[in-house]
Amino acid sequence: MTAQPRIAILGLGSMTGAILTGLLAASVTTPERVVATTRTAASAQRQGERFPGVRVLSGEQEADANLTAVAEADVVLLGVKPKDIVVTARQIAPALRPKAVVVSVAAGVRAETLAGALPEGQPLVRTMPNTPLTVGSGVVGVAPAAGVTADQRALVESLFSGSGVVVPVSEEQLPAVVAASGSAPAYVFLLAEAIAVHAVELGLSAEAAEAMAAATVKGAGAMLVDAVTSGEQTAEGLRRAVMSPNGTTERAITAFEDGGFAGLVADAMDAAARRDEEMGREFGA
Ligand SMILES: NC(=O)c1ccc[n+]([C@@H]2O[C@H](COP(=O)([O-])OP(=O)(O)OC[C@H]3O[C@@H](n4cnc5c(N)ncnc54)[C@H](OP(=O)(O)O)[C@@H]3O)[C@@H](O)[C@H]2O)c1
Repeated sequence: MTAQPRIAILGLGSMTGAILTGLLAASVTTPERVVATTRTAASAQRQGERFPGVRVLSGEQEADANLTAVAEADVVLLGVKPKDIVVTARQIAPALRPKAVVVSVAAGVRAETLAGALPEGQPLVRTMPNTPLTVGSGVVGVAPAAGVTADQRALVESLFSGSGVVVPVSEEQLPAVVAASGSAPAYVFLLAEAIAVHAVELGLSAEAAEAMAAATVKGAGAMLVDAVTSGEQTAEGLRRAVMSPNGTTERAITAFEDGGFAGLVADAMDAAARRDEEMGREFGA
């Protein structure tokens, strides 16, 4: 494998844009070695301006855009929506180099389903990233399918290491990754939303309430990452540290616990994992 891989990104959108930002920042490769595609010419133009040096083709202007993009690629990142991914995999199959590693970021669609649309033996890796990759603080679960070498696996992990924490997992663990990190930024946004809404009801201005909720999530997140990375503290330990006996935080946490907070989080995570499995059946049919 070359030191600087040639990368094709089919469907340069929100998620793959975040990944591309991270991999260029980490000098995994140069913009000139990346070819990307979109559906519409307008998106291709916008993404071309966002990533100078990257060649961005659109299916609207060139029917063979995806085939052209993958022809020289060492890595092919499939960034289209789950409903479009099998058709896209089938479309590019004849143009793939035999050693090109195909990487999916799609929720739900199983390796077995994708492998059925690709040439036999094509290296394939399923991943589940989350949107904080856009600010360099994401998490991605990486699950290589059969036939992926250690070098290919390291190459795929390097694509993400500039924009987040890489967690090697098995494909069976991906629904849990969806529940714990892929969908989880929205759980945190929901909490921030609820805090801001009720802060207004308690008398703060909407502007102050939103700023406070955002800064609190950021500050608490930074404390938690420091604590977990250093191994000196846990989420539970940090929580207990701010709960003075008979103080305000203790009262708030008791209200959460009395309301069944942990069970509610577990129900939400189960629902996300179940939907991922359901999507696997929908798109595998
Ligand atoms: N967003 C998340 O939180 C998240 C988390 C984990 C995984 N994912 C996965 O990421 C993937 C993309 O999601 P997204 O939110 O990033 O969507 P998005 O922003 O809408 O990006 C999709 C891209 O695919 C392009 N496209 C559509 N059909 C195409 C085709 N046939 N050939 C080439 N390009 C095509 C679109 O082009 P146009 O703009 O021209 O239509 C757009 O650039 C999904 O599979 C999703 O499951 C997303």
